[in-house]
Amino acid sequence: MITYHEQERIFKLDTPNTSYLIGIVDEENFIGHIYYGKRLKDADVSYLMRTEEAPFVPGRNNRERCAFYDCFPFEYPAGGTGDCRESCLSVRSAGGHAGAMLSYVSYEILEGKPELAGLPATFGTAGECITLKLLCEDRHVGMQVELLYTVFQDVDVVTRSVKITNTGKEHFYLTKVCSACLDMDNRDYDMISLHGSWGRERHIQRKTLGYGIQNVSSLRGESSHQDHPFLALVEKSATQENGEVYAMNFVYSGNFRAQAEVTQFDYVRMSMGIHPENFCWKLEAGESFQAPEVVMLYTDKGLDAMTNAFHKLYRKHLIRGEYRNKKRPILINNWEATYFAFDTEKLLSIAKEASGLGIEMLVMDDGWFGKRNTDECALGDWQVNEEKLKGGLKYLVDEVNKLGLKFGIWFEPEMVSPDSDLYRAHPDWALAIPGRPAAQARQQYVLDLSRKEVADYIYEMVASVLRSANIEYVKWDMNRPLTDIGSYGLPADRQGEICHRFMLAVYEMQNRLIKEFPYLLLENCSSGGARFDPGMLYYSPQIWCSDDTDAIERLEIQEGTAMLYPLSTMGAHVSDCPNHAIGRVTPFETRGLVALAGTFGYELDVTRIPEEDRKMIPEQVALYHQYNDLIREGDYYRIASYSQNHKFDCWQVVDEDKKESLVTFVQVMCRANFKSRRILLKGLSEETRYEVCFVNETKIQPKVYSGDTLMKAGLLIPEQQGDFRARLIHLTAK
Ligand code: DGJ
Repeated sequence: MITYHEQERIFKLDTPNTSYLIGIVDEENFIGHIYYGKRLKDADVSYLMRTEEAPFVPGRNNRERCAFYDCFPFEYPAGGTGDCRESCLSVRSAGGHAGAMLSYVSYEILEGKPELAGLPATFGTAGECITLKLLCEDRHVGMQVELLYTVFQDVDVVTRSVKITNTGKEHFYLTKVCSACLDMDNRDYDMISLHGSWGRERHIQRKTLGYGIQNVSSLRGESSHQDHPFLALVEKSATQENGEVYAMNFVYSGNFRAQAEVTQFDYVRMSMGIHPENFCWKLEAGESFQAPEVVMLYTDKGLDAMTNAFHKLYRKHLIRGEYRNKKRPILINNWEATYFAFDTEKLLSIAKEASGLGIEMLVMDDGWFGKRNTDECALGDWQVNEEKLKGGLKYLVDEVNKLGLKFGIWFEPEMVSPDSDLYRAHPDWALAIPGRPAAQARQQYVLDLSRKEVADYIYEMVASVLRSANIEYVKWDMNRPLTDIGSYGLPADRQGEICHRFMLAVYEMQNRLIKEFPYLLLENCSSGGARFDPGMLYYSPQIWCSDDTDAIERLEIQEGTAMLYPLSTMGAHVSDCPNHAIGRVTPFETRGLVALAGTFGYELDVTRIPEEDRKMIPEQVALYHQYNDLIREGDYYRIASYSQNHKFDCWQVVDEDKKESLVTFVQVMCRANFKSRRILLKGLSEETRYEVCFVNETKIQPKVYSGDTLMKAGLLIPEQQGDFRARLIHLTAK
């Protein structure tokens, strides 16, 4: 899978269907990017680096060194010495100078994949994957750089990361460290990214890639509602089924930048890493900095292939823990049911009703601790409010368990309310710039987790609650961005490290949590879905997708999310109507079928919803049990997109053996005098005959068609009266 061609000085990395080639050039040992694309038989395609074309390589003609630097396809470009495109690495020496250039030193090929200290990352055993470590240096700076590349045997991705070590005698500062770069020819690409807002996370955006720099980024200290740590460059003609796609996804949850720069020569530099703004990391002699991982992907088979490669990688090589391949308990969360107005009696009444309907876990959301009766206070005071929870937490949990339900609980460990005992005792524990009042958001401050004593204190508070009762699920929330980035615990020249140190501390706390409570189901959340990223998936197998639980709004949110992440990761609940986020009324069945495409659960007061809705719950629970294995593990195909056609939405999952498939069809607006819709299915076996059954619809008789017919000629979905109507169609091989 990885070979070194000594004579040509070329490294060839092969995945099942792609090749990635790196060349060492000239006596100065420049590290050039040669090729990334369809799998090649030959290794020697080094002509693609164009070193025979003017301006020549410096060792042969030093007259045009700048011109060479400015167009050579670098594997990992450092700035300030002649390459005037945006660099991936900026170093400022103790003397205040910037400028670096890497040259190749040596390589190692390692079986498996080394862990990245303190960071989330994909993993695989020897046999599953193999890693190339390229050691490079800049002797002038006194710096070694390790470029790591891993290829997997079963999925077409290359993962990359970078480690920088100060090998000199004096400190220097890293002011920019990207994790991956791809220099290639521009072939008139479109750029696909995910954009959003609170309640509108991860909407797909596609636009023409033009000359100059285009990027998506976050400076909010979290991967964010607004932009997403993902970027794809795709052929103009690329569709779901066809066309070239180059994609990058960052295994990181903090500030990021994903960028594409189209140059004067029609080359494109695609890069991804920690956002350089406000980033400045001091490296003392002998110290190292490990940058987070980027997953890089190429396919010539369109967006469905990209999606399924990401899904497979994350399911098999990123998500960990007890629940990674397991059905998750169907939960009912009390947030939209009660907000802060609950007590033991109310929660038990919900649990009692829920248990009779087949729901398996009660999750107590925000408001159970300190004096928290509104969102204006008490974050940081993680003691149970016994006025609300009479008899204490253990009593409540035991009673819920007696009803046959598991119990889960909400925390927001990274935050502190100004009106809290914690803040009154330790005002310096919140992030703030000395002398400047820090901005509040949702009336709260961010804790300075870059200080170990703060992170340790909060961890102990959370863990002691979990130790006190049989708690089997935690929702870890984070409801405001990082601002006023100042720490009382760090010296002046390390203030630029706070955001990344904060992220490392969150990762460390979550790691401790899942080590101490290995059976725990952890669900990350950030004001809805502001921290839905691969970094978080390393710790929690599921993440709350959005506070917008409206079934129609969710179509676009879940489409964008599922473009990268397995359906098993998408927190999705059936909620009450009119919807609390947007006021829309949709049929209860539709809410159920849309939530079925995620983790599935409820977020409503089951004691108060209309009787006809309540009656449908056991049926929905049964659908979950029947189809969740398929939904969790199956290949996912986008059949139609409401965000594009403004009429209907449709997606499909198919099991690995192509014996079973499930299609969800949502007719958004009903129209007069309209015939059925014809949809072309995907991923089936052409030779197999499938029984096609419209689930729970007695008026439509099951019929048998071949996979060939269903994929080429299609399936007719009859028109239904009424807006927002959804259908489930189950296919089984005969
Ligand atoms: C934001 C989350 O997304 C909600 O589900 C809920 O947990 C609230 N926070 C609680 O404050």
